[in-house]
Amino acid sequence: MRLGIISALSEEQQGLVEAMQSPYKLIHGQRTYWVGQLWEIDAVCVLSRIGKVAAAVTTTTLVEKFGVTHILFTGVAGSGDRSIKVGDIVVAESLVQHDMDASPLFPRFEVPLTGMTHFPADHHLGTRLLDAAYAFLENDFSDAIDPLEKAAFGLRQPRIHRGLIASGDQFVNDREHINGLNAALPGLVAVEMEGAAVAQVCHELNVPCAVIRTISDNANENAATDFLRFVKSVAAQYAFHIVRRFCQQTKVL
Ligand code: ADE
Repeated sequence: MRLGIISALSEEQQGLVEAMQSPYKLIHGQRTYWVGQLWEIDAVCVLSRIGKVAAAVTTTTLVEKFGVTHILFTGVAGSGDRSIKVGDIVVAESLVQHDMDASPLFPRFEVPLTGMTHFPADHHLGTRLLDAAYAFLENDFSDAIDPLEKAAFGLRQPRIHRGLIASGDQFVNDREHINGLNAALPGLVAVEMEGAAVAQVCHELNVPCAVIRTISDNANENAATDFLRFVKSVAAQYAFHIVRRFCQQTKVL
């Protein structure tokens, strides 16, 4: 196994790069790829930057140039359903590009000439990520996050959800927009800007992938408030411990 780990923001990646054994970096296509081992798993860590094109080219490079066999994407997302709260964790079952619309030539959301609207995430990889996320909440959450930050963001007993993640080249910060996506996409758990592009590339290249996101906002008018503070003080800790537990549990399989 050679694991590619993609993060959208540097705060989320920093801890993982610091934890790497014998890391070296390679710069390619304006991105820095960190190659080494994470808890004894061969790994390559990279920042995709933001958006579907950035994620697609990064994913392709990880597979074609770095030979990764599995891909994990960690990041934050807006809630896709009223029942899903800030601080909850979502794992993708499948992913859709919510801004893809070539109608009336093709049905809304269908990626033309693929016949597909939903791209699957790898079920086995997703289940192992879920296990890591549950172990994080049970064992690490209470100590890993500063109590002041927990209070500031109203984090009490975060929950974990598995379902549909929708990606688009838009930061969704409008109640009507998110309600419309929720109505059009049954099973929606979150909106973000990269996952479905990673899933399409992985589907086309036949590489298993999984996407895990911490809910940072409700995709409404308040979505951008305290966004970076949340990434630094909450999401970065979630990503680090969940990936650590994922690697440690993978090593013993
Ligand atoms: N990532 C985190 N929050 C988001 C939002 N509201 N829209 C798109 N991507 C996001």
